[in-house]
Amino acid sequence: MTEIPQQMRHIRASGPGGPEVLSLDSMAVPAPGPGEILIRVAAAGVNRPDVLQRAGSYPPPPGASPVLGLEAAGTVAALGEGVTQWAVGDRVTALTPGGAYAEYVTAPASNALPVPDGMDMVTAAAVPETFFTVWTNVFQRGRLQPGEWFLVHGGSSGIGSTAIQLARQFGATVVTTAGSDGKCAYCLDLGAHHAINYRTEDWAAKVRELTDKRGVDVILDMVGGDYIAQNIRSLAVEGRLVNIAFLQGSKAEIDFTPVMIRRLTLTGSTLRPRTPEQKAAIAAELRERVWPLLSAGTVKVHLHSRFPLADAAEAHRLMETSAHMGKIVLTVDETA
Ligand SMILES: NC(=O)c1ccc[n+]([C@@H]2O[C@H](COP(=O)([O-])OP(=O)(O)OC[C@H]3O[C@@H](n4cnc5c(N)ncnc54)[C@H](OP(=O)(O)O)[C@@H]3O)[C@@H](O)[C@H]2O)c1
Repeated sequence: MTEIPQQMRHIRASGPGGPEVLSLDSMAVPAPGPGEILIRVAAAGVNRPDVLQRAGSYPPPPGASPVLGLEAAGTVAALGEGVTQWAVGDRVTALTPGGAYAEYVTAPASNALPVPDGMDMVTAAAVPETFFTVWTNVFQRGRLQPGEWFLVHGGSSGIGSTAIQLARQFGATVVTTAGSDGKCAYCLDLGAHHAINYRTEDWAAKVRELTDKRGVDVILDMVGGDYIAQNIRSLAVEGRLVNIAFLQGSKAEIDFTPVMIRRLTLTGSTLRPRTPEQKAAIAAELRERVWPLLSAGTVKVHLHSRFPLADAAEAHRLMETSAHMGKIVLTVDETA
């Protein structure tokens, strides 16, 4: 067992701003509270919400670490009071309330899962945020059923690449939109049945054509703006629209008549402010329904690139170009 130091390296944000506000610094290693574990971080995933938090538009919820980072994989270094399901040295991947851009991070023990069989730590670090988000929004809120039509916008994003694979695995017909032909080819490789380049094609018209004017049953959207009205028009009777972000704005002028006529459900959620108990309930379903697929390699995590922790600013610059396909990861200590 490795001794836990007093101080650790982490990424400090000197204030809201561009990627240049991020730099390596030193701070005290956090202590796990009751029900928490301390993880010696091998790698941490980079997610769009980190970019929004750094820019000042997505503040951490009360009580969360101000350090960026919503997911990490590593080994359990210490147990808080009352933790019985993990032992020091266990390999875990965890949803963290913040703080993963660091050598050590705490997380509720119930929000950690074992690293799937055969998966390396760097890949495992890219699992929790997108899998928790997709599971709770597509399958719990969106109630996607086998045989239904599913549309996910931004199919090449971390979220999109997870949603395509899980929806396909669970028996849906998957349609996605993405911003280039290269991204569309990537989405088809992941298992999408149809990928629409929204820059060269009217995606809503294509969805109407593909579904014979019926529309899709569930839409997962992070774009918002003009898409809100088009999403509503693209839903079938009893369709469900789930918004997880509004990259192009959250305001729109909407004709709500189709919501009534076609009995639509408009919903959405954010994962981060949900309680550890709510996240634990999602973790339990993932462990039962999705972990076997990750262990078998039927569902994969696609890493676009990895950066050393010290280069977090570079990782954010890449994410802001939106040139990536799949996940971006920070490597912290691959021997952890
Ligand atoms: N609600 C939640 O609980 C929750 C949790 C995690 C993430 N999210 C949200 O889900 C979204 C995806 O997250 P991620 O980490 O997977 O991000 P990501 O990999 O950076 O993907 C974002 C993608 O969205 C597409 N996009 C469309 N319109 C855009 C715009 N106006 N600005 C920027 N990108 C645009 C881009 O691809 P194209 O080239 O195809 O346009 C881009 O690659 C983010 O908005 C994030 O905030 C929500």
